[in-house]
Amino acid sequence: MNKLRKFLRKIFLKCGFSQEQIEKFYINIYGKIKRIKNPFFKFTNYFLFKIGKRSKIEYDLKSKLLNSKEVFGDNEFYQSYPPLGFDGERDTLLRFQNYNIKKYINKNTNILDIGGNIGFFSLYISKYVKHIDLVEYSQVLVDMGNILKDYENIKNVSIMQKDFKNFCTDKKYDVIFSFAVHKWIGLPFLDYIEKIYNLLNKEGILFIESQNLDIDPDFEYNLNNCQKFFKIININSTNEKKSYLRKIAIMKKV
Ligand SMILES: C[S@@+](CC[C@H](N)C(=O)[O-])C[C@H]1O[C@@H](n2cnc3c(N)ncnc32)[C@H](O)[C@@H]1O
Repeated sequence: MNKLRKFLRKIFLKCGFSQEQIEKFYINIYGKIKRIKNPFFKFTNYFLFKIGKRSKIEYDLKSKLLNSKEVFGDNEFYQSYPPLGFDGERDTLLRFQNYNIKKYINKNTNILDIGGNIGFFSLYISKYVKHIDLVEYSQVLVDMGNILKDYENIKNVSIMQKDFKNFCTDKKYDVIFSFAVHKWIGLPFLDYIEKIYNLLNKEGILFIESQNLDIDPDFEYNLNNCQKFFKIININSTNEKKSYLRKIAIMKKV
């Protein structure tokens, strides 16, 4: 599938389409194909619940996802949720450990999670920090995050339906997460970085994860062009089995 995707991408690029246009097109088609499989996933969800192999909360959240047209997390949750054993396309625990996040947070830390999807990642790390604001475009994902938040009785996370492009607040954050999202926001990269810069406290930390490197080949180069705003502390590769190869960078506000 990946080889076919690469081959098609080359042809589309030769025809003059941009990387973003190709990826959006692909996500649309891929989303449609995945939704055709929905009845099978719906049945599996129901079956596992009925035989007692799936909890009511997981069944409810999965049903919500499978009845939606959501692309970022189609038949499967985009993020796993370790405390309740929910599987996901992206491994929350592995990401948390590999991104070395614990080194930069404590009980006084205020975080902004941009495009935080179903919020499972932020809900998982909420126990380590003071507060997390999560801004997510998709209403269905926001609803799912809030359902889990209430179920888990988590009080220090606010999951908000907002377009980050228009997001403004008087608050300043100690840490900002921008995981696999900058290309979807619709801002030129430097404008996006400047917006984040203005939302951070002095010496605040930005964790920025690339998209799939096929569509984000200039990620590192772009980060190196942000020296006016940020100093790069570290750049690493991600290593999740189910996801693409990506880069993760830790940046400090200058
Ligand atoms: C690839 S997913 C990444 C999710 C999450 N950050 C992670 O890495 O686990 C991109 C997410 O960004 C959201 N998104 C896209 N454009 C957005 C925007 N303009 N404002 C807020 N969220 C947005 C999508 O709905 C989706 O949930």
